[in-house]
Amino acid sequence: MYNSKIIGLGYYVPENVVTNNHLTAFMDTSDEWIQERTGIQERRWIDPKTEDTTAVMGAKASKIAIERAGLTKDDIDFIVFATLSPDMYFPGGGVQVQDILEMPTIGALDVRNQCSGFIYAMSVADQFIKTGMYKNILVIGAENHSGGLEKSTRGRGVTVIFGDGAGAAVLSRTEEKDKGILSSHLHSEGKHAKELVLEGPSTKRWVPEIIAANDAEDQSYFPYMNGQFVFKHAVTRFSEAIVEGLQANNLQKEDIDMLIPHQANLRIAQFIQKKFQLPNENVYNNIMKYGNTTAASVIIALTEAWEKGKIKDNDLVVLAAFGSGFTWGSVIIRW
Ligand SMILES: CC(C)(COP(=O)(O)OP(=O)(O)OC[C@H]1O[C@@H](n2cnc3c(N)ncnc32)[C@H](O)[C@@H]1OP(=O)(O)O)[C@@H](O)C(=O)NCCC(=O)NCCS
Repeated sequence: MYNSKIIGLGYYVPENVVTNNHLTAFMDTSDEWIQERTGIQERRWIDPKTEDTTAVMGAKASKIAIERAGLTKDDIDFIVFATLSPDMYFPGGGVQVQDILEMPTIGALDVRNQCSGFIYAMSVADQFIKTGMYKNILVIGAENHSGGLEKSTRGRGVTVIFGDGAGAAVLSRTEEKDKGILSSHLHSEGKHAKELVLEGPSTKRWVPEIIAANDAEDQSYFPYMNGQFVFKHAVTRFSEAIVEGLQANNLQKEDIDMLIPHQANLRIAQFIQKKFQLPNENVYNNIMKYGNTTAASVIIALTEAWEKGKIKDNDLVVLAAFGSGFTWGSVIIRW
């Protein structure tokens, strides 16, 4: 069995900055409300006049990650692409990145696990490397939320939270023992699917039906979130996933050098930080600048933390996420 190790990281966010005050132009909200409840000050939303899409942003982040890995696109054996906001209903974003980057006809797999998408994607890639099937895997998390949010007061409980962006990692085979991904832990609880959901259009209710109904009250094609319910489950599941990861490796909370929690809400991250009694320098948050970018959030935060020199060789890095499904999980890394 081999181990897998991150050898390249990259992220890309659209240039267009949307502050909380910008949102007040089309919905009844305030900078104070958003910051107090979520910690978010601004987010990036794609300017529709630009070329950016979920796949394009994913490809831009990937280019940086591949270059930093010291590889070329031709060295990549497989793509795992996580998103809840693909450019098309099908095919997925993985094949688009394969095309945009003009890569050989390698396999491309899409992961649909929302906020924990990147954790799932890393775990999948790790298994392929451990068994020896692939050597270098490109793992991407990318989201274009702004294209599908309800930009009016009715949608404010959801819309203010989400942002666009992408991140990518190159996961590579290593012969080093006790280095790289030590373990990953994945969970789901589908009975809560409807608490954080985008129902339509779907094969149950297809586009012509929604158009024919012409129902102004219909919100099924905008994301729905039972905010407080999600919040309560998130704090519990985040903690469980971190504890599970530490226990599996005989580690203690004091061993954590860097915790990268999925950027769902700064209040959730602060709750977790307090629970594990971690000093500020051992947790990285950037939701203030980017909002919640779901499958892209962990990898954007990991890349930024690494760029800022906050992650050093041999550090114990813990990634954890929770989101729609419900799905949640953690990845424990010895850097
Ligand atoms: C979404 C969230 C910030 C809402 O905060 P909350 O304190 O639960 O707020 P509520 O939904 O109970 O709404 C409280 C009031 O604020 C209002 N409100 C909602 N969004 C608002 C906004 N953007 N601006 C101003 N007021 C808003 C509501 O209409 C409600 O008004 P009412 O009391 O007159 O009915 C919070 O529940 C949360 O962060 N949940 C977890 C979300 C999450 O992590 N999602 C991603 C999962 S990975």
